[in-house]
Amino acid sequence: MSGFHASVITLYPEMFPGPLGVSLSGKALEDGLWRLETLFLRDFGRGRHRAVDDTPAGGGAGMVLRPDVVAEAVEAVSPEGDARPRLLLSPRGRPLTQARVRALADGPGAVLLCGRFEGVDQRAIEHCRLEEVSIGDYVLSGGELAAMVLIDAVVRLLPGVMGNPLSGAFESFETGLLEHDHYTRPRDFAGRAIPDILLSGDHAKIEAWRRENARALTGARRPDLLAGRRGHD
Ligand code: ADE
Repeated sequence: MSGFHASVITLYPEMFPGPLGVSLSGKALEDGLWRLETLFLRDFGRGRHRAVDDTPAGGGAGMVLRPDVVAEAVEAVSPEGDARPRLLLSPRGRPLTQARVRALADGPGAVLLCGRFEGVDQRAIEHCRLEEVSIGDYVLSGGELAAMVLIDAVVRLLPGVMGNPLSGAFESFETGLLEHDHYTRPRDFAGRAIPDILLSGDHAKIEAWRRENARALTGARRPDLLAGRRGHD
């Protein structure tokens, strides 16, 4: 089954599809390989001003999204029985990994709640079983860009989206290593030559060079990745 179904709950639905409507993901959207639905959180707001947030209990800066508003929106877009995971994009979340992206791509879709303000009332997180997901150790002004990053990473893995289904299998993180260096024509550029081995036609040697290049790069930039894959080869 393909047909990944993304439902995004946001205060800024006009941000979507944004970059997801262009290039690989945009073509796949047009081709019906995935579906994008946005829900305007303010439609579930309270009172004349459709308030979605309020001041934090205990005091302090910022505003907190109300649990009743959040729960109504989540349940409207994803009633009981919907098998899709419910994700809350938040810098507090578990870091998104390629393994999680792949698992999402293998599933029916996802409900994505984009946080804004200081946060979401904890009771909504628990009541709606929202899984908090972060795309990195930096703070965005809201979850919308994070949701787009997640969706983009998922969509490119869906069957029929990438031209060459093998090309994804050897890229960064799928092997546990960063990708090796790449070269193309011209043979000499600004006084730098393409490494001879890559022009030798000896595929075993080229493979060995790429493995070693990837390992060295990973050791220099991401020693944590190397430590995590001891015993792989
Ligand atoms: N919202 C704000 N910052 C974020 C982050 N790093 N990841 C996911 N959602 C966010």
